[in-house]
Amino acid sequence: MKSWLTVASVAALVTVAACNGGDPAPAPENQAEAAENVAAGAGTPTDIAAVMRARHEHYEEMGDAMKGLGRELKASSPSVETIQRHAALIAGYGPQILTWFPEGSGPEAGETRAKAEIWSDAATFRERAQAFEAVSARFNQTAQTGNLDAIRAGMGELGNACKNCHDRFRAPED
Ligand code: HEC
Repeated sequence: MKSWLTVASVAALVTVAACNGGDPAPAPENQAEAAENVAAGAGTPTDIAAVMRARHEHYEEMGDAMKGLGRELKASSPSVETIQRHAALIAGYGPQILTWFPEGSGPEAGETRAKAEIWSDAATFRERAQAFEAVSARFNQTAQTGNLDAIRAGMGELGNACKNCHDRFRAPED
């Protein structure tokens, strides 16, 4: 499982945005280094916190993109461009999700909604992440056609692909 986080995928963890109300994110080079350390089983508490914060930020962006999609599709004249931007962001993160969970970044490491089952039932987690990757790529293709009826029709499948993972692998909010 340690190989989930290869050096090539470390760039995926790099983020510059600060978490809502949290500490400012460390400089990108520090985050890349942090991710490598955690993946190698040599992460300091600071490294692990950086990995967990980057993950949180990416999910928040995906959540905002989903809300943005819903908003546009309800609008009297939806912005296809905005829809396409949200769909592309979500599909861009699809293939990265498996790199966001190096061993050692679970509930044992601090406050997180990531359940221990992500690591104890890694095969199922991988399956659901890969299913999401396929669904989000398909949704993005549909979005890029600009066909609003088809986009609306695809929303349920996209939302279910998020939910399918959350139901099993995300703990409730406290
Ligand atoms: C393969 C599993 C998986 C998929 C697919 C997935 N999520 Fe999540 N999501 C998680 C886990 C696990 C967490 C908790 C992360 C943490 O607390 O470190 C999470 C957290 C979140 C959060 C809360 C942010 C946080 O860190 O507390 C939001 C918002 C979110 N996801 C939105 C989405 C949306 C929207 C989609 C689909 C477009 C999606 N997720 C797809 C597993 C997944």
